[in-house]
Amino acid sequence: MEALHKVVSRYGVLMRARRSTLAVPGSNPRFLEKAQGLAADEVFLDLEDSVAPDAKADARRNVVAALRDGDWAGKTVVVRVNDVSTQWAYRDVIEVVEGAGGRLDCVMLPKVESTSHVIWLDTLLGQIEKATGLPVGDIGIEAQIESARGLVEVDAIAGASPRLETLVFGPADFMASIGMRTLVVGEQPPGYGEGDAYHYILMRILMAARANDLQAVDGPYLQIRDLDGFRRVARKAAALGFDGKWVLHPSQIEAANEVFSPAQDDYDHAELILDAYAYYTTVEKRGAVMLGDEMIDEASRKMALVVSAKGRAAGM
Ligand code: GLV
Ligand code: MG
Repeated sequence: MEALHKVVSRYGVLMRARRSTLAVPGSNPRFLEKAQGLAADEVFLDLEDSVAPDAKADARRNVVAALRDGDWAGKTVVVRVNDVSTQWAYRDVIEVVEGAGGRLDCVMLPKVESTSHVIWLDTLLGQIEKATGLPVGDIGIEAQIESARGLVEVDAIAGASPRLETLVFGPADFMASIGMRTLVVGEQPPGYGEGDAYHYILMRILMAARANDLQAVDGPYLQIRDLDGFRRVARKAAALGFDGKWVLHPSQIEAANEVFSPAQDDYDHAELILDAYAYYTTVEKRGAVMLGDEMIDEASRKMALVVSAKGRAAGM
């Protein structure tokens, strides 16, 4: 079944499907065309690191044309602009949002290191929305956390704007930022031993996201021919609670959609808990009850709601 484009989270907040978040270089019209037919939950049309400096201006035009003329139905549609320290950022936002803002769900801001970066984008989006007659506040923000400074500031960043929908881990830039001794993005640095060198980073991002009712998305796995490796790394993020992961190649899409969807048994069980709990609390007025061999209470209902919301986002 096709994934729902949007579902409502347990807090009544809009949650878009983002199990697979496909990166598409804005400089490549062929990829911009092809991406429309792929089964990724989200596509982000990139103006940042996959586009060479001399190709930035053409990429903006390609992205606006692809947004206006393409068929992106059923997908979360995002453009990644350049970061606030560059000469490209303001024009990226202005050209894309003036040209095709009505087609955009979010703007992704890379290398976010302070609340002021998010507030800058929020303010600029508001000005363009007013000038072009778009509903004010409609375009969301995805913030990439991909440096030591960004991680240290992540709690404040996550609360910087009501437009924020998602925190995104950027492992490649992050590994460079902290001097991690490996060149293989997403894999454990040689010599680290048994632990998981990413655990603290992922948890920190996830806590900041959830404390502010945002989604959390893991970044890319660059060994695109190693699907087993992709699944292994994706499963860890999914197990913690992350909502999705970037995909750089069509072959990674199905794996991400599968890994970030609840197992059918878990989904069915969650629905059963919700039905049973609703019955016992309202009809029998009891708070803690037995469901088979398992005791369920209000906390079980909350856990079940999370699984159920993720399942619905996945079209279950
Ligand atoms: C993505 O932007 C990354 O740096 O990994
Ligand atoms: Mg990056």
